[in-house]
Amino acid sequence: KGEVGNTEVNLMKKQVSALQGQLTMLQAGLAKFQKVAAFPSGQIVGNKAFVTSGYEGNFDDLRQRCLQAGGQLEKKTENAAIQQIAIIHKKAVFLGINDIQTEGRFKHLNGDDVTYSNWQLGEPNNDKGAENCVEIFVNGKWNDRFCGENRLILCEF
Ligand code: IPD
Ligand code: CA
Repeated sequence: KGEVGNTEVNLMKKQVSALQGQLTMLQAGLAKFQKVAAFPSGQIVGNKAFVTSGYEGNFDDLRQRCLQAGGQLEKKTENAAIQQIAIIHKKAVFLGINDIQTEGRFKHLNGDDVTYSNWQLGEPNNDKGAENCVEIFVNGKWNDRFCGENRLILCEF
């Protein structure tokens, strides 16, 4: 009986050792993938990635390209990461955030309500009654803007 137990223990030792090898490979693969995602201007914050293709487009373009991405800007550190992307490209960036459905109620691309925000003083002002999308300036502050405007498109994974 004791020998059977030993056999099982030895088998498990082998399996654990195989898993350790696979985990090491996986970690190396992930580290490499994070570098890819962060090149040349992507930002990794915790387990989130903020990436732009460098392409400018309107909000519909952003929606099409980024809906599958699934991540969302939820805190100051993440805002700072996106600000970095704006700084690198010297351009304002469109966030997935919008109040298209209900004026004044800003939501993420997936429909979740916005909890963290970083509005510029005086914003959002829904200028000319036509601003339902949100850009982030190089200074990190947000402004609601016409969705048809072209801005750097950023996906949040
Ligand atoms: C506007 C102003 C305003 C801001 C609007 C912009 P414009 O630019 O910067 O402060 O709230 O979102 O559209 O129309 O005067 O060039
Ligand atoms: Ca505005």
